[in-house]
Amino acid sequence: MLNVAVIGTGAISDQHLSAYLDAGEEVRLVALADLDLETAEAKREAFGLDGVRVYDDVTRMLEAEDLDLVSITTPPSAHRPNAVQVLDAGVHVIVEKPMAPSLEDCDAMIDAQRRSGKILSVIAQNRFRDEMMRLKAVLDSGKLGTISHTRIASEWWRGLSYYDLWWRGTWASEGGGCTLNHAIHHIDLLLWLLGSPQAVVAMMTNAQHDNAEVEDLSVAILQYERGLAELTSSVVHHGQRQQIEVQGQHARVSQPWEVLAESSRPNGFPTAEGEAAVRQDLEDFVSTLPSLEHTGHAAQLRDVITAVRTGARPLIAGEDGRAAVELVTAIYQAAIERRTVDLPLTPEDPYYRTGTLVERAPHFFEKTASVGGLEGPITVGGAAGA
Ligand SMILES: NC(=O)c1ccc[n+]([C@@H]2O[C@H](COP(=O)([O-])OP(=O)(O)OC[C@H]3O[C@@H](n4cnc5c(N)ncnc54)[C@H](O)[C@@H]3O)[C@@H](O)[C@H]2O)c1
Repeated sequence: MLNVAVIGTGAISDQHLSAYLDAGEEVRLVALADLDLETAEAKREAFGLDGVRVYDDVTRMLEAEDLDLVSITTPPSAHRPNAVQVLDAGVHVIVEKPMAPSLEDCDAMIDAQRRSGKILSVIAQNRFRDEMMRLKAVLDSGKLGTISHTRIASEWWRGLSYYDLWWRGTWASEGGGCTLNHAIHHIDLLLWLLGSPQAVVAMMTNAQHDNAEVEDLSVAILQYERGLAELTSSVVHHGQRQQIEVQGQHARVSQPWEVLAESSRPNGFPTAEGEAAVRQDLEDFVSTLPSLEHTGHAAQLRDVITAVRTGARPLIAGEDGRAAVELVTAIYQAAIERRTVDLPLTPEDPYYRTGTLVERAPHFFEKTASVGGLEGPITVGGAAGA
């Protein structure tokens, strides 16, 4: 039985609490912590967590409780201090995306993980979807041949009031705009599917949210050894199209699932004649893949619980969260400095440091409002909207 706590009892904590409650006998929720005690108390009540203790101070919670695993679901700028403190107390950590606003923060968290020998996992719940697992298996199978082009639409839509929440819309506390906080889901998927690119060019802007410092739209081109990838990160797109399209040597596969294939006529012009065979081969292959028993947060939290029990590496560790932040940082750097940025970024690079973005990123607009909470449900993951 693992004793579990959640730090930060806002909107996304619901996903963690539900997952822990559904995990049954394996875990026992024992504590909730939030800077705002009333928020933690309200959450305890909403989930009927009688007997669960609430704290407004993480240090006191760590002293008073015998914890095994903690979910950190605070705003991004609070991920590093909380994660380092919890790991140094000898407790496993699952932290929400984005791992942290800078690579320096990520490395401090990974250092704490290595010091403690405990698990650090970063939420990337969209890997735990059948269609993503299918895409991953197809790419790993080599059936597509070499990869020429990948197009990723990480297109979301958020109204102006989204940025009224106190920690959103500033480089200091949200850490960035839609590239860091929304497209990070697709950036994690891209890195998982294809690995890291070698170089990045990008532009970013704020097209619609004149109440936020940060970007609400960026477009990046990523260079791989031979192929290219294009990534649109947005919170201004009606319809919230979210797609990954991979063009390989032998076929194109997409999420949502689709297969297309051209073959060559004697004169090099295309014909779809061979498509049926390619499609059949890929459909036969994916039909052998098992379906996930759990998806999204529930699946990732179960993966971490298993890792705690068995000592295995969780599917998504601190290094994976860091890799996504590295690519986001390179996109910001390329857009701000208006030049090609090579990867990996080194600790000598100014953009590695915590605070560089705050110093150098444009304030597209000034934040105009700061409210403690926003009414209404949030959407998380899925084919559209998170
Ligand atoms: N995985 C996803 O799909 C997904 C979706 C939404 C949000 N998120 C991420 O979850 C995190 C939280 O987002 P949210 O929408 O739940 O925000 P929220 O504002 O609803 O909740 C955050 C809570 O953390 C508390 N808090 C702030 N600083 C704290 C600290 N230092 N110690 C303890 N408590 C603190 C706040 O009082 C608040 O109750 C962010 O990193 C966000 O990017 C992930």
